[in-house]
Amino acid sequence: MLKEVELFDVFQETLDKLDGEGVLLVAGDPPNPMTIGWATIGHIWNKQIMTVLVRPVRHTFSLMEAVSDFSVCVLPDQFSRELNICGTKSGRDIDKIEACGFNIEKCIRVDAYYIAGSAIHFECRVVHKHFLDAATLDPGIVQRYYPMKDFHMVYYGEIMGIYRA
Ligand SMILES: Cc1cc2nc3c(=O)[nH]c(=O)nc-3n(C[C@H](O)[C@H](O)[C@H](O)COP(=O)(O)O)c2cc1C
Repeated sequence: MLKEVELFDVFQETLDKLDGEGVLLVAGDPPNPMTIGWATIGHIWNKQIMTVLVRPVRHTFSLMEAVSDFSVCVLPDQFSRELNICGTKSGRDIDKIEACGFNIEKCIRVDAYYIAGSAIHFECRVVHKHFLDAATLDPGIVQRYYPMKDFHMVYYGEIMGIYRA
């Protein structure tokens, strides 16, 4: 049974997972889960916003370009194998939902899917996006994270709902 919760109730747990084994960005129909470790959660334009960063080479990038809604799913602790699959295999090559044995559910507030059994899931709608700008990015970050110049697209998702299992 899902319970709608406030950002404050899930903030620390979500950041801990981002800093640990990651969380899943789920986009597309049929949905494709991709492990992400980089995201911000905050307040802009009087909205709660989650930004996610996606490199253009990812299958998820094509999916995010084709849709406006996505979910971010924080899995319970015992999902290292699945997070590894979703962070190393591409949805271009395999069906990661099937490979992980996930069940999917339709989101409540947006036109996207989430992974059933997620400890927490965020339902988001893209309100802005842009590529990181090499000209204004710290040169040390450019050198360390972008030797191939494959700068992330940053998607700003308005958080339309947050749910706990
Ligand atoms: C812990 C972890 C965190 C990751 N974080 C990101 C991220 O924030 N953005 C990104 O573009 N890729 C990230 N990746 C890489 C993608 O998850 C990986 O390339 C994935 O296979 C892409 O799947 P797709 O081609 O189905 O989109 C991360 C991988 C791992 C293991």
